Amino acid sequence: MRAYIASTGFHVPPNRVTNFDLVTRYGIDTTNEWIVQRTGIEARHFSADGEGTADIALPAARDAIARAGLEAGDIDLIVFATLSPEHAFPGSGCVLQALLGLPGVPAMDVRNQCSGFLYALASAKGFVESGMAKNVLVVGGEKHSAALDLTTAGRAVACLFGDGAGAVVVRGTKDSEPNKDRGIHWMNLGADGRYADALTQKVWDNRKSPFIWKDPETGKNVVKPEMMWCQMDGKLVFKNAVEKMILSVVGMCMENKIEPSDLDLVVCHQANMRINEYVRDQLGLPPEKVPNNIQKYGNTTAATIPILLAELERDGRLKSGMKVALVGFGSGFTWGSAYIIW
Ligand code: ACO
Repeated sequence: MRAYIASTGFHVPPNRVTNFDLVTRYGIDTTNEWIVQRTGIEARHFSADGEGTADIALPAARDAIARAGLEAGDIDLIVFATLSPEHAFPGSGCVLQALLGLPGVPAMDVRNQCSGFLYALASAKGFVESGMAKNVLVVGGEKHSAALDLTTAGRAVACLFGDGAGAVVVRGTKDSEPNKDRGIHWMNLGADGRYADALTQKVWDNRKSPFIWKDPETGKNVVKPEMMWCQMDGKLVFKNAVEKMILSVVGMCMENKIEPSDLDLVVCHQANMRINEYVRDQLGLPPEKVPNNIQKYGNTTAATIPILLAELERDGRLKSGMKVALVGFGSGFTWGSAYIIW
């Protein structure tokens, strides 16, 4: 038996915020040209006040469950990848489990940022192939908008991220399966914690007591701006992202005895169009094999790969039997890739 992705689902909140809106609605000193040239991003979606990460994920989860021909009650494990849970704890997986009305079903969070979906998918594959679960709901969901410094001071990071969720149902193939090769054939995960500070949103530091800084003058606990907002060494992230993503795909091809040109689709994490164009050029692949949707949604971190898979499936670019690579890189640093026959 081999684990396979039985269905996809996605949801983005209706509030679309263009690069022009960052200037006119938020008063940020930026331009559409600056953002598009460096990142490819034209717009992102922000959720409403009062809406949390699991709320955004709920329609995506229901979409994936329905498209798998299942009821919510058939799900026997939830794996939720997010860097933006509602609270420090419990995780968004438990919040989503309650929204789906599934008391008793195990729910866990994966905290691996932009690589989170791939880490979650690898977990689901392990659960299914070991027989510990039958129908795993894997979710990548983020609410970035509440944690962006939407002022000129925060523009380098704020222009990059958006809210959204993608979901898949992972099941095991049956002997009667007509598509014998179908499934997640191979996965590889990696991390290099020496770069933990290169891309981070700290909020607190529990090596210090109290874990949230106390202003000696007022006696109040205060989260300083450098702790509250994401800090990023953009150039270092860019350099490591292209290196690790290219090596991941080349390593995947060697392990599976295929050439990059044998792949029908390479579905990259959507952090920056320039990263993905560089990866595509180095792999010698045409644009149609390395699709992007960052233009519409910005970087939705753990949600980018499942959202893109869902869109590709809906518009017919992702078809049964295709050889598909998934590849991602993000904070940690962490990275991962998957070789799938769809
Ligand atoms: N609008 C206008 N000007 C801006 C903006 C903005 N939104 N943001 C930064 N600037 C200015 C800076 O203030 C700086 O001005 P200065 O020279 O007067 O000081 C200038 O532009 C250059 O700033 P840099 O930060 O050096 O810009 P850089 O060329 O590195 O581009 C970027 C920034 C696009 C983030 C780039 O580093 C990058 O793509 N890095 C990859 C990281 C990434 O994609 N991260 C996403 C999350 S990680 C992940 O998902 C893998």
